[in-house]
Amino acid sequence: MSFFLPHVPELPSNLSFDGQVAAITGSNGGLGYEAALQLAQRNIATLILAVRRVDAGQKAKAEILADPIVRKRSTPPKIVVYALDMERPSSIASFADKIYADFSELHILLLNAGLGTLNYVQTPEIHSEQMFQVNFASNVLLGTRLLPLLRATGQRSGTPSHLSLVGSRMARESNTFARKPVAPTINIFDYMNDKARFNGFGRYSDTKMLAALWIAEVAAHVPSSEVIVNGCCPGMTRTGLQSRQPFAVRVLVGAFGVIHRARSAPVGGSVLVNGVSTGKESHGVLVWDMEPKGLEFLQTAEGKRWQKKLWKETLAVTEQWSAGATAEAGLDS
Ligand SMILES: NC(=O)c1ccc[n+]([C@@H]2O[C@H](COP(=O)([O-])OP(=O)(O)OC[C@H]3O[C@@H](n4cnc5c(N)ncnc54)[C@H](OP(=O)(O)O)[C@@H]3O)[C@@H](O)[C@H]2O)c1
Repeated sequence: MSFFLPHVPELPSNLSFDGQVAAITGSNGGLGYEAALQLAQRNIATLILAVRRVDAGQKAKAEILADPIVRKRSTPPKIVVYALDMERPSSIASFADKIYADFSELHILLLNAGLGTLNYVQTPEIHSEQMFQVNFASNVLLGTRLLPLLRATGQRSGTPSHLSLVGSRMARESNTFARKPVAPTINIFDYMNDKARFNGFGRYSDTKMLAALWIAEVAAHVPSSEVIVNGCCPGMTRTGLQSRQPFAVRVLVGAFGVIHRARSAPVGGSVLVNGVSTGKESHGVLVWDMEPKGLEFLQTAEGKRWQKKLWKETLAVTEQWSAGATAEAGLDS
């Protein structure tokens, strides 16, 4: 295995999203913005920019519409900016309700919003741990809420929709679940929200491992003929992800990025665009760059045990937050 990140092949020049509706979380900057721009450059009909700062989303919308390639389109994309704060289940509920009120189809849901930090921060509404909430638990809730629309769109069009969660190969480093697994008797939600058990250095990897386990189990419940459910990992990319870190950490990560040849945001964004257009071979797995490689841990007995345990617990919590949502999504059987 090379120390340097491998070259990412370009997307096919004829890849087109003509006639499709896509929602992207965290699309005001970084990878989410790049993915939104590239979808617009490739003829997407409608883009839903789901952002927590609407002014930043409006700026992103203006920039996409001003892009020279987008301007060459015969019909510009329709772009709407909707508020979504992934720290607040109430915001997710309002966002999902608005999607159902305003759209009769959804071809792409790209769950991109995420963060990395070393500190324990409590979310304002339900007092959960921020990184666990944003990188994992809220994606579960939003994905579950919008699955019925994605499934119906796939059924109607005869072409599968895509639900893609921006994961990370950093999941391999998860101490809590993979390397030095904690006792299987814990409740995962209680454990991850407990300040006394928080480890800032391992938390990001843990949240991405949970996301990969969830994606694998959703894929077992949803036929790939309706929705292709996958994760995608762009590899180390130069974005604002480290902006919450202390200065010294940012310097270290920046230096590592130079040595490791971290990718530009447009290259990373192309990996996300691949994630929302790739085929059934990616169903349930993490796509590394453009390759549906998956995570070895998920093939082990330990991985499969965590996957089932997590599934049971996420169904219960999702029901608390949104009664009936798991059955509507067809995830309860
Ligand atoms: N960069 C990498 O090397 C890399 C590698 C693998 C995977 N990833 C994943 O890629 C995804 C995008 O990260 P990035 O690198 O593009 O980082 P970024 O530049 O920091 O962008 C993160 C996006 O998520 C949004 N976000 C954060 N918390 C949110 C919340 N509570 N509600 C709604 N939106 C929220 C941010 O909004 P604000 O602007 O309002 O903060 C921003 O739009 C993340 O899931 C990350 O884990 C990144």
